[in-house]
Amino acid sequence: NVLILDFGSQYTQLIARRVRELNIYCEIHPYSKIPENLEPFKAVILSGSPLSVRGDNAAHPDLSNIKGKIPLLGVCYGAQYLAHFNGGLVAPSDIREYGRAKLETIYDHHGLFSGIDEGTHVWMSHSDTIAELPKDGVRLASTNDVMNAAYRIEGEETFAIQFHPEVYHTTDGKQLLENFLVHIAGVKQSWTPAAFVDTTVQELKNKLGDDKVVLGLSGGVDSTVAAILLNKAIGENLYCIFVNNGLLRKNEFDSVLDQYKGMGLNVKGVDASAHFLKALSGKSDPEEKRKAIGNAFIEIFDQEAHLVEGVHWLAQGTIYPDVIESVSVNGPSVTIKSHHNVGGLPDFMKLKVVEPLRMLFKDEVRRIGKEMGIASELLGRHPFPGPGLAIRILGDITAEKVRILQEVDAIFINGLRKWDLYDKVWQAGAILLPVNSVGVMGDERTYEKVVALRAVESTDGMTADWVNLPYEFLQETSNHIINRVKGVNRVVYDISSKPPATIEWE
Ligand code: XMP
Repeated sequence: NVLILDFGSQYTQLIARRVRELNIYCEIHPYSKIPENLEPFKAVILSGSPLSVRGDNAAHPDLSNIKGKIPLLGVCYGAQYLAHFNGGLVAPSDIREYGRAKLETIYDHHGLFSGIDEGTHVWMSHSDTIAELPKDGVRLASTNDVMNAAYRIEGEETFAIQFHPEVYHTTDGKQLLENFLVHIAGVKQSWTPAAFVDTTVQELKNKLGDDKVVLGLSGGVDSTVAAILLNKAIGENLYCIFVNNGLLRKNEFDSVLDQYKGMGLNVKGVDASAHFLKALSGKSDPEEKRKAIGNAFIEIFDQEAHLVEGVHWLAQGTIYPDVIESVSVNGPSVTIKSHHNVGGLPDFMKLKVVEPLRMLFKDEVRRIGKEMGIASELLGRHPFPGPGLAIRILGDITAEKVRILQEVDAIFINGLRKWDLYDKVWQAGAILLPVNSVGVMGDERTYEKVVALRAVESTDGMTADWVNLPYEFLQETSNHIINRVKGVNRVVYDISSKPPATIEWE
């Protein structure tokens, strides 16, 4: 187990992912909340930070229980921090050091740089520089501009690097992390999907015993993988509820429900389309629509959960990025959550919560799913928003609009599959615009709806770029849509990146 202390760098989660890729388990904790029990941690990594160690509000945690006692690697800010507080000198650098650089000289090819050649590319991102090494510091590598690009502390397993080993542009970053964690700290590479499944199933068995658990399935990867894990642990005591809000993709409810049953899940499909449509009626503001859908879901789920007699637990497919406590570098974080009034909470929200995926990243959830034999077709599905097509029908929702958009969306998505483009796209969908435009069909003038198609590349949905789909594909798709979907006479393709546009139009 490896401890990553987060000082607020945008790359901290990447460090964790690289460590996990080495089949090593790690946890991210804020620098201000170092775990009291350090025994489980065989190595510690200090992340970067947008702060300067010289600043008044800089993060200055007490590392006396760590430094010299547990193998330690400081990255960027972490490296400066280790220098600043141990007799070194951190100063503003004359040149800002961002982007690609080369390690021109490596002074010691054993240990941290074992197997790494001079000239290797590293990624820099800092404006301070380590002008003088700390006490007992031994220089390990330099670039043309950065004399102390890496150093270690004599007599300790303490290492520091000014560059970021976690970003892909640092060619040998993974090798360096492996050198530190495996060869220097002796951490075992035993965090594999199979091991995770075994230990998690055992933990769930111990925790849940003969208790009953309810879980809301959405058709997405996270809830599905969570369900299969729980199913392995407690079998029929897991009651899955899959609600059709009437805003899913065409035929999705039936086909996904069949797949779930095929996987041996104890699942109940609840078709509440009419209830959702009614809740949405007359609403055209995006946030109001989201709220109406959220409330309708709570009502339906609560009703269904009540039918499970003596249920104790609510299972959720929460994953690690939602759990990591973010470090705010501008003073204490003031995130305000819109909590429901506890008195008015629906009953299922008073259940104890179990979240078997809460320590996993999305790609790991997929690996775990694969390990448990979930079909790759299901694991590779594009993300789909909870409010579904409601936020892709701009303005108010009617059954007819849902039908039109389902048809258009199905042609687009099936086309992506047919053209072998589906897996190259992170997310795709169609949007029904609240605009009519003039067209001609045969000899007749038409005045019908416009749909937009959107396909984006992304890794996490935070930033995204539109996909350069082949013209021939767009041409065929547009023809199919206009010829087959009654009510649509114009198709446009969205070529906006996020930011500034969002992925969804509402
Ligand atoms: P945006 O539109 O913010 O979307 O660029 C980023 C990602 O989030 C999804 N999304 C939602 N998911 N409920 C959800 O469960 C929502 O209200 C919602 N809004 C956007 C969107 O599909 C994309 O993957």
